[in-house]
Amino acid sequence: MIREQHTNLSGISPGQTEGAVSIADGVHWIGAMDPNLRSFDMILRTANGTTYNAYAVRGSDGVAVVDTVKAEFSDTFFRRLESVTRYSEIQVIILNHLEPDHTGALPELMRRAPQARLIISQRAPAMLKALLKPSDDELDYDTVNTNDEISLGDRRLRFLHTPFLHWPDTQCTYLVEAQILFSGDVFGCHYCDERLFNDRVGDFRFSFDYYYAHIMRPFKAHVMDALKLIEPLPLKLVAPTHGPILRDRPRRYVARYRELSTAGQIFEPGFLAGTEQRSLIVFYMSAYGSTARMAEAVCAGAESVSGVRVSLYDLEGGETEPFVDLIEQADALAFGSPTVNGDAVKPIWDLLSSLAVVDLRGKIGAAFGSYGWSGEAVPMLEDRLRGLKLRVPVPGLRVKLIPTVDELSESREFGRRLAEAITGRQGSSPAVETADDDDNGQVIDFSELG
Ligand code: FEO
Repeated sequence: MIREQHTNLSGISPGQTEGAVSIADGVHWIGAMDPNLRSFDMILRTANGTTYNAYAVRGSDGVAVVDTVKAEFSDTFFRRLESVTRYSEIQVIILNHLEPDHTGALPELMRRAPQARLIISQRAPAMLKALLKPSDDELDYDTVNTNDEISLGDRRLRFLHTPFLHWPDTQCTYLVEAQILFSGDVFGCHYCDERLFNDRVGDFRFSFDYYYAHIMRPFKAHVMDALKLIEPLPLKLVAPTHGPILRDRPRRYVARYRELSTAGQIFEPGFLAGTEQRSLIVFYMSAYGSTARMAEAVCAGAESVSGVRVSLYDLEGGETEPFVDLIEQADALAFGSPTVNGDAVKPIWDLLSSLAVVDLRGKIGAAFGSYGWSGEAVPMLEDRLRGLKLRVPVPGLRVKLIPTVDELSESREFGRRLAEAITGRQGSSPAVETADDDDNGQVIDFSELG
């Protein structure tokens, strides 16, 4: 399709020549193109495939290889690598990120360049061992942290610890003299274009933002920490592990990350905190109006507590996307659902499943609803909220069929206790502990890697 155009426009056709591409003096792209990929990690759509970018850096004392490629593209990677160096010249292999799309060729590279030192972040050793499955005495590596440097003679490689971008192990590597940042997944995107450089490829803005939304957004706080390390650096070029190499005004992409990490903040940061207000959003669905009446009573009870701003949304329209930004900024979420066929209703589950891109740590959750005979929806929702790492300090409230005056009063009391839990004035209901957490509140199941 457009592959011929790429070649004509750029004069560079890595897919055809299979040679390395010079991106700066002594620095080559030795990655691979995967134009037919349509789904990455099972969840990301890729409209025109992706690239697995790897790099070779030559210094006066030898060569550094920065990242590798997915295993099935190893032959291409080694052909490109061999076009710029002998294996005996490779001094170090730097792994910015151990996900298999960047370490697939690593075992063979270690076999071909056994003298090369492996350089990984401080968070990476356990993962490296899980990946390579060596006995302890077979695996040799050095760990590095922010501002550690290694020398290739006339050039230095400096490391920036950037955990959770996109795994706990991730780091960036900065080639100091050339002002090149090998950024790993950061500033990457799934966009395959043989023209390779951002000033030559097609318009990849959508892919860049889409990648951020699905890979980086859950780790916004870590993105902001990483930006503090990256923004002060002089940058001539950013070389990520996916998508175009950013040589034209690379700082625009750094700025875009800052924009995206603060986007959707309808209130200025600190708006509610500055007024000592906390926010509660109540979502509900109602078949015959009973759960709706409960929802209104829950809101009335919550509003009776000063310092709590309450919002009520009916999910009848079935849309979830508009609420994700709101939820990200809320302090507490309550979900009202009737029980239908032993389950909560689909729009509620859809909304909860859309929250994988949001950091929900520290938020309070609650569930309520009307039911006919079995009433499973409320406990099921509570379990899901705990699974998402919300605290559930107020036990769920269920009402059989149409709420009585007393039950509406209970609903108001439920809302009041919920609001008090948000403001920290709760006296009688101990917080229910959430599931075990890592230091980011995100669960990454590495058992899925197989
Ligand atoms: Fe491209 Fe997180 O690996």
